[in-house]
Amino acid sequence: MMTRARLAGTGSYLPETVVTNQDMSGIVDTSDEWIVSRTGISERRLSSGESTWHMGAQAGREALAASGLRPEDIDLVIATTVTPDYYTPSLACIIQAELGIRKAPCVDLGAACTGFVYAMDAAARYLATGGARNVLVVSSETLSKIVDYRDRTTCVLFGDGAGAVVLSAIPEDSDEPGARILSSCLGAEGESGGFIVSRALSIDHPFILDADAGATGRNRDRFGCEGERFLRMEGQEVYKFAVRVLQESLQKAVEKAGLTVEDLDWVVPHQANIRILETAARRLGLPMERMVVEIAGMGNASSASIPVCLDRMVRDGRLVRGQTLGLVGFGGGLTYGALLLQY
Ligand code: UT7
Repeated sequence: MMTRARLAGTGSYLPETVVTNQDMSGIVDTSDEWIVSRTGISERRLSSGESTWHMGAQAGREALAASGLRPEDIDLVIATTVTPDYYTPSLACIIQAELGIRKAPCVDLGAACTGFVYAMDAAARYLATGGARNVLVVSSETLSKIVDYRDRTTCVLFGDGAGAVVLSAIPEDSDEPGARILSSCLGAEGESGGFIVSRALSIDHPFILDADAGATGRNRDRFGCEGERFLRMEGQEVYKFAVRVLQESLQKAVEKAGLTVEDLDWVVPHQANIRILETAARRLGLPMERMVVEIAGMGNASSASIPVCLDRMVRDGRLVRGQTLGLVGFGGGLTYGALLLQY
């Protein structure tokens, strides 16, 4: 894949409520020392009522404004979240209505923490085939809805927030230099899905024939979490997976683009744990100065973490036109993906 496309605008939104490690140690048996040394997280932002769609719309509005485009120029909206407010309408449809984008098809894409990278890959393919000219990608997460604040192994990790980008096609005959999507490498290991589970509503209607359907296997809870309301994660297993796929998918994407890791100005990874990023960087031979780390102030905001990083990099001037970036996500599914682009 080599698509002439430009990140035309970025936006982000983090809720105002700051919850420090000190605050966390007031509700579970943990400490600032443990959280910082094991994860790199100092504080996270948690929703004080902001919904997933509200945060997503704020980020999307900012990205649209930065792009200089009008709502009617957007011809596809892709949203990603593991914490939607409704089964229907989709997050993408609500954002479309909030931003006054008319008619454009709207779809939510489910790839957990890798959602943004999958969505960028899909957007690039729409642009490449002429199926769209300007795509709004919004990732918004309210993990605090599904986190168990009695479980110290997960509650210290996650935060809420949203990030968005507008990805625009550049006509083939344009002499505008640079910007393009260079390559991608996506994948999933569904057999390991049980390592991160958050259950949706289960069947409960008056016409269930077999009260023991669960036991017979028809209505079997695949992951042994019947009645559980909260997210569950086997941290160490996910950790090993994350280090492996971060390295492998990035390496494959780099090879596909005919580049080497040294050609990357920035790697923008999913912000889950600084130790994952440090280990992967070491294995890739990538200096940490080129690995973007924003986890200290935001925690793990699932699919929102990469676009929030991108927005910060654009706004503080770190990201310069012409630079080459590797975006890398990993998480629930289990899913992973790397996408290379020239900004
Ligand atoms: O976004 C989706 C992708 N998610 C990830 O990438 C997460 C990947 N996993 C991780 O980042 C890490 O595995 C964690 C941060 C979740 C855990 O770090 P760890 O170094 O793997 O710790 P551990 O699970 O091996 O636990 C070590 C010890 C245990 O105590 P014992 O059994 O050694 O006595 C835990 O009970 O740390 C204990 N522990 C805590 N102690 C203080 C676990 N959580 C806490 C806590 N505060 N919050």
